[in-house]
Amino acid sequence: MTRISVLIIDTDEASRQFLAKTLQKQDFQVIEAESAMEGLQKISESIPHIISCDANILDMRVYEFIQRLRQEKKFANTPIVVFSGDPDPDEMDHCLQAGGNEYYVKSGQSTNTFIKNIMPLLSAMKEAHPEEEEKGVLSVFLSAKGGTGTSSLCANVAMSLSRLMTSSTIALVDMVLPIGSQALITGYEGDFNLIEVSKLEPEEMTSDYLLENLIRPENWLFDLLPGSPDPGTAGDFNVSHAPNIIDTLRKAYDYVLVDFGRSFSRISLPIIQEADVAVMVLSNDLSTVTLTKRTLDYMQEQGVHQERIYPMLNRAVGLEGLTKAEAEKILEIGIRTTVPYMRSNLTLANNQNVPIETKFPTDSANFVFKQMAVEISQMGILTQAG
Ligand SMILES: Nc1ncnc2c1ncn2[C@@H]1O[C@H](COP(=O)(O)OP(=O)(O)OP(=O)(O)O)[C@@H](O)[C@H]1O
Ligand SMILES: [Mg+2]
Repeated sequence: MTRISVLIIDTDEASRQFLAKTLQKQDFQVIEAESAMEGLQKISESIPHIISCDANILDMRVYEFIQRLRQEKKFANTPIVVFSGDPDPDEMDHCLQAGGNEYYVKSGQSTNTFIKNIMPLLSAMKEAHPEEEEKGVLSVFLSAKGGTGTSSLCANVAMSLSRLMTSSTIALVDMVLPIGSQALITGYEGDFNLIEVSKLEPEEMTSDYLLENLIRPENWLFDLLPGSPDPGTAGDFNVSHAPNIIDTLRKAYDYVLVDFGRSFSRISLPIIQEADVAVMVLSNDLSTVTLTKRTLDYMQEQGVHQERIYPMLNRAVGLEGLTKAEAEKILEIGIRTTVPYMRSNLTLANNQNVPIETKFPTDSANFVFKQMAVEISQMGILTQAG
């Protein structure tokens, strides 16, 4: 997969290497330059996703360098941060006025703050400078077999994404037919749902309508479009409106997560084909892995690019079953992440309609959800950037 690239411009080799190593450890791609001129030359070869510049570059004032970049349309959305070993309020003002995003005082701590801010910065720049018509990142959650934990993972990852992207809006849609389970997981008991929305005329179903009517479940930080409450209701689903619902949601929200469960059908396929990220949830039993392989082959035939697929292993039944390596051998594709067995924790959290992070903040699964949120937003930004 393509990674987020960071251009580091710093005359001081030790400090450049320190930032480079720290970023590489977290799987960022690093491009290094010793001077503004070298930076400009590297930029002309390939456009980085984000630029970090030391204030002491010798060949140009740092804010002039920022100004110069901002004059070019292709760098309008590139976050630019400045690190200064010798902070100066005037210089900071100049940098921010020139279009710099952050001005950090150099330290180990500020390096960490910068790294934490990379994804939110990329997201915020996209929102502040929408090019044509911006669409939110679409991530679909699928499985080849039921009961693999797809719905619980989808809800908990949406929660982590909301925590990570504090200035972004996030919607979760339950499209599992004939019965959805997100209302049950998040504790919503009302009548508003996907089936009702599908009955609306297209002119009624606007971004504003969705923003006003989606549910904000009490213990969660995203908006929910609940699914069908029972098979009878599912029969009333106006299938032809499904693509437009997703499209309008993407205009209204920065991130749209769709729980499809194992409903691979003529309804879900066009939406899966359009998705920026397709999270494929599998468990570690042979039959699920085999079915997943067939599903992945089918997706590929249908034009879902492998770069957009995010296979993840959920140890829903503990440690027995296939190892990750055995599963990968069958799948012929790398598994991106593994969710540990949570014993009864997930069931307990689900039963109380709360996220895992609220009920069991020290459960190691929380780190996995956080990592997934980061990777999904990275994949989304990368696929949208083409
Ligand atoms: N990693 C895990 N550790 C412990 N329990 C898990 C784990 N993953 C899933 N479970 C259990 O499996 C149950 C089913 O999860 P969930 O409803 O999210 O699966 P699903 O794939 O969406 O199922 P369905 O096919 O019914 O839609 C959860 O309530 C939870 O009890
Ligand atoms: Mg489900």
